Amino acid sequence: MCSEMAPHARLAVYKACWLLGGCLGSDVLAAFEAAITDGVDILSISLGFPNSDFFSNIVSRGSFKAVSHGIFVSTSAGNNIGLTAVPLANVAPWAISVGASSLDRDFPAYITLGNGKKLYGASLYSSEEPLSRSMVPLVFAGNISNITNSNLCVPGSLPPGSVTGKIVMCEMGSISNVRKGMVVKAAGGVGMILANTVYLLKELQLDIQLIPTAVVDKRARDAIMTYIASNHDSKAKFTFQGTKLGIQPSPLVAQFSSTGPNPSTSFLLKPDIIAPGANILAAWTGKNSPTYLRDDPRRVEFNIISGTSMACPHVSGIAVLIKMAHPKWSPAAIQSALMTTAYNTYKNGKELLDVVTGKPATPFDLGAGHVDPVSALDPGLVYNASANDYLGFLCALNYSSTDINTFYEKDFECVKGKKYMAEDLNYPSFAVPLSTSGQTVMKYTRTLTNVGTPNTYKVSTSLKTPAVKISVEPEELTFVKKNEKKVYTVTFTAGSMPSGTENFGRLVWTGGKYVVSSPIAFTWD
Ligand SMILES: *[C@@H]1O[C@H](CO)[C@@H](O)[C@H](O)[C@H]1NC(C)=O
Ligand SMILES: *[C@@H]1O[C@H](CO)[C@@H](O)[C@H](O)[C@H]1NC(C)=O
Ligand SMILES: *[C@@H]1O[C@H](CO)[C@@H](O)[C@H](O)[C@H]1NC(C)=O
Ligand SMILES: *[C@@H]1O[C@H](CO)[C@@H](O)[C@H](O)[C@H]1NC(C)=O
Repeated sequence: MCSEMAPHARLAVYKACWLLGGCLGSDVLAAFEAAITDGVDILSISLGFPNSDFFSNIVSRGSFKAVSHGIFVSTSAGNNIGLTAVPLANVAPWAISVGASSLDRDFPAYITLGNGKKLYGASLYSSEEPLSRSMVPLVFAGNISNITNSNLCVPGSLPPGSVTGKIVMCEMGSISNVRKGMVVKAAGGVGMILANTVYLLKELQLDIQLIPTAVVDKRARDAIMTYIASNHDSKAKFTFQGTKLGIQPSPLVAQFSSTGPNPSTSFLLKPDIIAPGANILAAWTGKNSPTYLRDDPRRVEFNIISGTSMACPHVSGIAVLIKMAHPKWSPAAIQSALMTTAYNTYKNGKELLDVVTGKPATPFDLGAGHVDPVSALDPGLVYNASANDYLGFLCALNYSSTDINTFYEKDFECVKGKKYMAEDLNYPSFAVPLSTSGQTVMKYTRTLTNVGTPNTYKVSTSLKTPAVKISVEPEELTFVKKNEKKVYTVTFTAGSMPSGTENFGRLVWTGGKYVVSSPIAFTWD
């Protein structure tokens, strides 16, 4: 993906993960070291470890060193398992954390039932498959045996030969969709309907399967159940439609994209941005099958897979383009350019939607919004920061100098008596923790650096809650030179709300053709 975004980029690939044993921390750090020594410009890291404190997390440690050597680091936000939320994986301020969205590309399929009813689904199979020509018997896996979870097509739930020549409907959950296909195939099945049991705005995640498969939503699942229950000789056929482009609304925030708030600190909003991560077509290794299954003999040059691991390299590639246009920019300046120019509405002005809720996505889903490669090249203003600023942030979060010195190469001491404020890290977004009892006043200081044409910028703010008042001082900033810096402060005054309440807003500086936009997330805890 990285080289598809930036076709002339030179790639250096460091192997840190293994089929057996996964990714060892020592291997990951060795890979960081090798890349830093080689002098790479951008690091793309589609892996994560669960520790959420910056000190014990391997990627956080490795990326701090990379960033202090001027290397921009892009990381994946992490993937939920099914609809089970998995906390964000990469949450340090010095590496951008990328969530996943859909493209305007669909792979529609429809299922015709024996009674003539047509139901819509999606499939990565092509229209050439023989199953599309004739009706074949259709069964629901949950009716084949009384073994627990047979509806989910778990291994051992479908006796050999029990579904020979049939299309089998399996429900999603418990094991990967690909393994369900393997179970159906082993029991003699010729096709699979993979049914969601929760309602999503759209089925975004498709898999390469061993047998022709169509994914359907809960509504279609219910219709198929009703049909099977009332017909002794239920039948179905698939019609695969191939690739369709221009699908709207797009992008949607994918169900598997891990969401905030930041498990590490309520002073930092994560994820930072979203990029394409659902059903991404890219080159594939000849060392593994497209399903990852050992029994699958197929070898392909391209595959379609989903995850924030696909979203991350899109941003890495765009960062390469920014670095080529602005070789002197710091990693923080590149991150700021990506974030403040990200979009969070469709062309019709409506907010980007979340595929799970069907409602507008929040900054906890998409951070600053969807990456916009062209705008990111010319952001107007940037929120710059250096390794020292990040260390000050760690001091504010009460990390000890001893801890900090285990991952910073130079000697560093948090200055005794100095008041470090987490609110003052010069970050392109705002995370504002508020009190559940009484009024809170939070003051954030930010510095903008002019990287565009001279302009006078005016601030505007929008909040989704009347519980918070916001004021910005000054409300107008005039830049006359390149690299000129201006400071402003934002004050949030909030009433109390019940613990767990979340709300959102935006702060936008507009000058000439430039729109420099930051998301704001409020949490009451
Ligand atoms: C098949 O399973 C469904 C759902 O569990 C159930 O409602 C239906 O009665 C079953 N049909 C047969 C024939 O067992
Ligand atoms: C499942 O158990 C029920 C009740 O014991 C029985 O009537 C039915 O035939 C069993 N179905 C299968 C597929 O074994
Ligand atoms: C940002 O800060 C770094 C180091 O502190 C500096 O080298 C760079 O010129 C600054 N500006 C930009 C746009 O990166
Ligand atoms: C850090 O410690 C100080 C003094 O104990 C405390 O007031 C402050 O709330 C702590 N900050 C964080 C982010 O935990």
